[in-house]
Amino acid sequence: MKRMDFFHASPYQRIRFLFRTLYSFGPKQLPMSEYCAAARILRGWFTKKAILKCGKQVNIDQGARYGLDIILGDYFSIGKDSFVQSGTYIGNHVMIAPDCGIYTMNHGFQRTDIPMRKQGLTKPKPVIIEDDVWIGTKTILLPGVHIGKGAIIGAGSVVTKNIPPYTIAVGNPAVVKKSRIASKKTGFGRKVEKD
Ligand SMILES: CC(C)(COP(=O)(O)OP(=O)(O)OC[C@H]1O[C@@H](n2cnc3c(N)ncnc32)[C@H](O)[C@@H]1OP(=O)(O)O)[C@@H](O)C(=O)NCCC(=O)NCCS
Repeated sequence: MKRMDFFHASPYQRIRFLFRTLYSFGPKQLPMSEYCAAARILRGWFTKKAILKCGKQVNIDQGARYGLDIILGDYFSIGKDSFVQSGTYIGNHVMIAPDCGIYTMNHGFQRTDIPMRKQGLTKPKPVIIEDDVWIGTKTILLPGVHIGKGAIIGAGSVVTKNIPPYTIAVGNPAVVKKSRIASKKTGFGRKVEKD
């Protein structure tokens, strides 16, 4: 929900919006979770009230921002200053490192006779992150991508396409470099064979 929708929103949405606003002015600014357990608890509590669904024992770190229409699984953690846009669905045991951006929307840019700034946002394309995914620092996920269970996204990657389960993908655009599935010959983290 955008700020300007507030007066047209349902009472339930307004309450969630208010909790997110309180989060932004208060607990979001408190020290990092590793130095202050109270900050971690407060950020988790406000987040639970604000978003669609929030699992247990989440860690929302200092400066993290999020849209209201997101779902977070159990034991989720998000690092300092990362951002998750509305329309993102995140499973259990997912780790998002600091300074990441998860985007579900673009600016409209179909018309050239008016500025893009006035064309609004596109409809969200949901981003899905399955269980046990690790997203490295400064990664960007673009609208509509699906990250398979157990995948790792290397630091600084830009993910433009779906990433299969138990793979390690890196780069801009992110491509699969390795599989995490153990191989008898090469052990953990073997390289994916190219055809
Ligand atoms: C993705 C990652 C886990 C891979 O680790 P690894 O399996 O030890 O990878 P390797 O060092 O064997 O690298 C494998 C290949 O991928 C490349 N690569 C690794 N990480 C990369 C990245 N982030 N971006 C681009 N290329 C990368 C390596 O250069 C290497 O390429 P080559 O095969 O052409 O030589 C690690 O590189 C990474 O990015 N970690 C994230 C760190 C982070 O964000 N920490 C914050 C913690 S909250």
